[in-house]
Amino acid sequence: MKADQSQCLFVTLLFLHQSSVSGSETFRVVGPAAPVFVFPGEDAVLPCYLSPDISAVDLEIRWFRDGYDNFVCLYEAQDYNIIRQNPAYRRRVNLFLGELPRGNVSLILRDVRRSDHGQYRCMVLSGRRYDDDTVIDLGVRGESLSVWFTV
Ligand SMILES: *[C@@H]1O[C@H](CO)[C@@H](O)[C@H](O)[C@H]1NC(C)=O
Repeated sequence: MKADQSQCLFVTLLFLHQSSVSGSETFRVVGPAAPVFVFPGEDAVLPCYLSPDISAVDLEIRWFRDGYDNFVCLYEAQDYNIIRQNPAYRRRVNLFLGELPRGNVSLILRDVRRSDHGQYRCMVLSGRRYDDDTVIDLGVRGESLSVWFTV
């Protein structure tokens, strides 16, 4: 009788554990279908969100370019990690913190420079168990086009 009960409890706990892992820690990271284009000096929003739209508040969010240690923005333990951030992006980037509970991990990059042109990878990690990522293209339009556009 006792053995039966503890076995039943064990199976129940195992089931609860597995359903919480598959229910809350599996997601896809989704970016825009088309590149984002801005002129130099403008602000760029790089859209990125989780599907399903679970909260990203307690997840680790990594925005980086070529290297995994070249962080445009690193968010972990519910805060920005500016120590590991590439200084070129310091004070120019933010997540929309109020949007994180909705799974919106979009990035705003202010005062875009020509050197910001290129690919950005958005990776979201749930502990060490699960992660997914996507690549977003940022196009910085040429100066001549900008002049032509505003005349
Ligand atoms: C994410 O938040 C930004 C800033 O508020 C907004 O522009 C964007 O539409 C949001 N994306 C989604 C998928 O809700």
